[in-house]
Amino acid sequence: MLKYRRTQNTFFRGVINMKAIIPFSHQLLEEVVREGDSVIDATCGNGNDTLKLSKLVGDTGKVYAFDIQKEAIEQTKGLLADHQINNVNLIHDGHEHVASYVKEQLISAAIFNLGYLPKGDHSIITTPDTTIKAIRSMLSLLTTKGRIVLVIYHGHKGGTTEKNHVLNFCTELDQKQYQVLQYQFINQINNPPFVIAIEKLK
Ligand SMILES: C[S@@+](CC[C@H](N)C(=O)[O-])C[C@H]1O[C@@H](n2cnc3c(N)ncnc32)[C@H](O)[C@@H]1O
Repeated sequence: MLKYRRTQNTFFRGVINMKAIIPFSHQLLEEVVREGDSVIDATCGNGNDTLKLSKLVGDTGKVYAFDIQKEAIEQTKGLLADHQINNVNLIHDGHEHVASYVKEQLISAAIFNLGYLPKGDHSIITTPDTTIKAIRSMLSLLTTKGRIVLVIYHGHKGGTTEKNHVLNFCTELDQKQYQVLQYQFINQINNPPFVIAIEKLK
């Protein structure tokens, strides 16, 4: 909604800041996810994206949420319980095994947060091979106009390697089949995260 403020008898259009990375990643999901959809949180961590997705798909939808760490699964379980959420299938396994869990339906969106679990063990990180294997599998599950959103944290050890692999993979996706967006603030210090979004065209 446009905001207006009154100055010296004149109405000026209010200034709205460019969206930060997490709100922007959520906006990309909001634009394509509808009630009743199936969707994936590929790295549930503390459960924030899982909660977001579960609200978007509603009671008739389904969220598949993956994490390799028991701690992350428990954290997410607790957050969902606090919000009385019952439409999430929490999967204590790597997202690269998605094909074993999501079999009979297409997904309208998936989100990855690459890196380590905040407040967790910083040595347990997402890795290029498993991330790219998972993206490939999820592309084949994606509906037309569906999106895979990647929030790429890369300041940690191993982060640059994963970032480069993912960027190479995404850059080479066929532009007739997918459009790929990069959203990044380029004047911030300390390797800030950025967003890559893949949208399936047909
Ligand atoms: C940056 S955190 C996710 C943050 C989360 N989205 C949140 O809102 O708190 C990355 C997570 O990916 C998980 N992870 C690492 N490798 C994975 C894999 N192969 N499959 C699924 N999760 C993985 C880590 O355990 C960690 O919890």
